[in-house]
Amino acid sequence: MADKNGNVLAKSYGLDIPAKNYPFHVKGMENVDWGMKDRLSRIFRPDSGKTVMLAFDHGYIMGATAGLERLDLAIEPLAEHADAMMATRGAIRSCIQPNHNKPVILRASAGSTVLKEDLSDEVVGVDIDDAIRINASCLAIQVFVGAKGECSSLNNLVKTIDAGARYGIPTLGVTAVGKEMERTNRYFMLATRVLAELGAHIVKTYYCDDFEKVVAACPVPIVVAGGKKVPEFDALTMAYEAIQAGAAGVDMGRNVFQAQDPVAMIKAISGVVHDQLTPTQALDLYHTEIHLAQ
Ligand code: R5P
Repeated sequence: MADKNGNVLAKSYGLDIPAKNYPFHVKGMENVDWGMKDRLSRIFRPDSGKTVMLAFDHGYIMGATAGLERLDLAIEPLAEHADAMMATRGAIRSCIQPNHNKPVILRASAGSTVLKEDLSDEVVGVDIDDAIRINASCLAIQVFVGAKGECSSLNNLVKTIDAGARYGIPTLGVTAVGKEMERTNRYFMLATRVLAELGAHIVKTYYCDDFEKVVAACPVPIVVAGGKKVPEFDALTMAYEAIQAGAAGVDMGRNVFQAQDPVAMIKAISGVVHDQLTPTQALDLYHTEIHLAQ
């Protein structure tokens, strides 16, 4: 209860201490609003500046995917080890417990499946009201630079950035690699820069040669996708090289949930991203975790 009289006298004004301005730990995000910084801080750990996003939105385009046949069984043991969860609203609502307190990166583009030749024909598939209702910390839009759907997917991106900005929700732009699209460093450098210039707060792309130049030319954080399942050491090496080249983290799916031991794998990936483990050290951690779990 506020009282007018009898209160302890306020006297600790720190008159000899100038007011502090703290630098923000997410690249290029110094000038966004407080709410957006709060959401970005849930995704990118303030201690390392990096993130391990667990991607399991594959079903929106591929249907039941190996390792994700039962989302409830697959994701439950992994959630606590991820910094953020990237998924569709259907998956989140039906299969993921709301008490993990992990930031949700909500897959917000939709409109094609692997049954079609051209995957680039998408729309914005989630209303901003529903994204707020699900407490999304970020919206994710796939962009098909250079494909038939280039213009419409860029339109999806900017409309989503505008909708999210009204409520302090950042947008992650995903550089899609459709069936017919190139995967050169020149392509990724162009695509990542285009997404950032249009206002994406985070850009997801694939690791490639000269990745440090792709990162340098992109004014916002880049997270790398894992891609198809490869041997664990190769996935850890890719993550390591991406982080060494300046990536702000990974947004990894199949190389985690299709690993022989997904929990050990996400712990090993986290070691690379947050604790500077080398691929060999991370593989040792992976095997140790498997051994301990037996
Ligand atoms: C692709 O459309 C999805 O955004 C996936 O989340 C993304 O490809 C990351 O998953 P993976 O590591 O399996 O490539």
